[in-house]
Amino acid sequence: MEKKEVPVQGAYRLLSPGWVVLVGSEKDGRYNVMTAAWQMPVSVNPPLVAVAVAKRHLTAEYIRTGGAFTLNVPGYGLLPKVQYCGSISGRNADKFAAAGLTPVPGQKVAAPLIKECLAGIECRLWNTYDGGDHYIFVGEIKAAAAAPEHFETQWSLTGGREHLPVNHLGGGVYAVPGMVASVSKDEKGFTVTEKPLEE
Ligand SMILES: Cc1cc2nc3c(=O)[nH]c(=O)nc-3n(C[C@H](O)[C@H](O)[C@H](O)COP(=O)(O)O)c2cc1C
Repeated sequence: MEKKEVPVQGAYRLLSPGWVVLVGSEKDGRYNVMTAAWQMPVSVNPPLVAVAVAKRHLTAEYIRTGGAFTLNVPGYGLLPKVQYCGSISGRNADKFAAAGLTPVPGQKVAAPLIKECLAGIECRLWNTYDGGDHYIFVGEIKAAAAAPEHFETQWSLTGGREHLPVNHLGGGVYAVPGMVASVSKDEKGFTVTEKPLEE
């Protein structure tokens, strides 16, 4: 395949990260929420996930002092709120109130979950790594919950577009899944079965 050079500063966009999440954090009883695309699972046992947060963000300060964070998976229907929480710092606004998102105290950690999201993961800060202009916060999952109509042991991607998790392509551009592809193996090899999503 012919390729054209991509500037190194923008090459991260070649790696589509997982779902966009809303990161909940807490400091001295104050809640904050910010949008993050740079999250990833890192360990099954112990259960660890990581999120890269720019050192200058209020969220970084809250996680470092609060020692906890939550990762909440919004559906496509929340996209304007997702963009808002990723454009304004909690230093300048109470983003929960301004976006109309409802904080719910975590069961295991002080950081807030978000009622309107499809799923939420509560993490206690496990370790912090220097990641250039970001901190890489690794969190140990202490609790997790998801709407059963959308996730049981994996995402079902049912319930219509409003309830689909989203990927971030860059700037204000997002992608939502368009179909589920199942791969099965028999004596002839691998077969892909496609199922379009309901509108
Ligand atoms: C779709 C999207 C994804 C983002 N992903 C990240 C990310 O992974 N890490 C990060 O540090 N900032 C990310 N940002 C930027 C922060 O969300 C944004 O700077 C936010 O205002 C920081 O808020 P805070 O100062 O209240 O913590 C993203 C923004 C958007 C819109």
